[in-house]
Amino acid sequence: MRECMMNEGERKTLRAWMEGKGLRALMARIFELGETGMAEAADAPGPRGRTRLALDDADAEARDRLTTWMRGLDLEIRVDAIGNIFGVLPAAPGGEDRAPLMIGSHIDTVGNAGPLDGVYGVLAGLTVLHAFRAVGVLPPRPLIVTAFTNEEGVRYQPDMMGSLVYAGGCPLEKALDTRGMDGSRLGDELERIGYAGTVPPGHVTPFAYLELHVEQGPALDHDKVQIGVVTGVQGICWREVTVQGAANHAGTTPTALRHDAGLAAARANVFLRELAARSGVLVTVGSVRFEPGLINVIPSKAVFTVDMRDPDADRVSAANAEFAAWLPHLEQEEGVRISTRSLVDFAPVAFAPGVIDRVEAAAQRLGFSRRRMVSGAGHDAQMMARICPAGMIFVPSRAGLSHCPQEFTGPQDLKRGAQVLLETVLDLLEAQSVSS
Ligand code: GLV
Ligand code: MN
Ligand code: MN
Repeated sequence: MRECMMNEGERKTLRAWMEGKGLRALMARIFELGETGMAEAADAPGPRGRTRLALDDADAEARDRLTTWMRGLDLEIRVDAIGNIFGVLPAAPGGEDRAPLMIGSHIDTVGNAGPLDGVYGVLAGLTVLHAFRAVGVLPPRPLIVTAFTNEEGVRYQPDMMGSLVYAGGCPLEKALDTRGMDGSRLGDELERIGYAGTVPPGHVTPFAYLELHVEQGPALDHDKVQIGVVTGVQGICWREVTVQGAANHAGTTPTALRHDAGLAAARANVFLRELAARSGVLVTVGSVRFEPGLINVIPSKAVFTVDMRDPDADRVSAANAEFAAWLPHLEQEEGVRISTRSLVDFAPVAFAPGVIDRVEAAAQRLGFSRRRMVSGAGHDAQMMARICPAGMIFVPSRAGLSHCPQEFTGPQDLKRGAQVLLETVLDLLEAQSVSS
């Protein structure tokens, strides 16, 4: 490793570039990408957000912008068979054969999203590579910035799909055959937008994986802590529940004779809230669809989703089991039939001490207040942790808002996060090993 280490002068120049021109480039790119998929002013009342569901036209446009920026930095662009995009900065002579350090996140969004979820991590990562190009230094091992496909899992489940496939947690063919909520096949959409690459997923095993992200919760903002040192991600369980009742006339059918799928879904939602209060597990019914969905027809069918999360895998399992055990009672009382489909079961993940400690030390060297914390949201880092030492850096989210247009982090916080990212990258680039 010795022969291609960076010297302190080069590190200082990289830091100075990052804090000045780098930050300006990062802010400009966040703004530009944030315009992609932006709702028209007339689309809906309230604040305007952007929608880039995985592999839709807006996601394609965002991918094109990202690859244009990568090309402008003379990075080698790779696209793998699940559509993950990699921008590769080569190592200095002597470092070519070393395992690359990977920085990443995602640029797909939920519906009507804020500008930062995922985007901040990808573009701050790109800015780190930009810093090397601007200063004219090559790293001691290859440095890769990655945008993973379908992190949000809104259009196609499971979420974190690109990184899951990359880490070998889901066969490629199964992922490509996934049907979306709009009936589309994921593999066909990848082809359509021109991002069905030829590189095999998992083509390199990174030396380590690092992801910078907005917290998306209230803890750092509320307690005025500048940096979250992320120690892991809580467990996630997603289910789709289908209730089959019988349609009938709203004006003529006595209450006692109804098989109301809509009412059964509403009762399930209330049961789940009480279960959340009893167990402490976070439970969300985030989507409900009725058929036929008409004002004067008793719903014949209801399809709803359940999102359960907790840092303790046993508590998620117990909550899920309690819900499943209650459903036969609901069937009997409401005269409906209920089936459940499993969409996601991701166990809690602990990040690598060798990455966590370096993030903490970087924040400390920079003089930033910091706190160790578990992520409430899912992230690509939790999948990459299956194949290499992984870790994350959080910055505050104003009022804890995310997955909505009001998502906001001030420039000083964005800058601090980018500085901690660069500092941790510089440390990891020269490390001989990282404890996992
Ligand atoms: C991803 O954003 C998730 O945690 O749902
Ligand atoms: Mn995200
Ligand atoms: Mn998200």
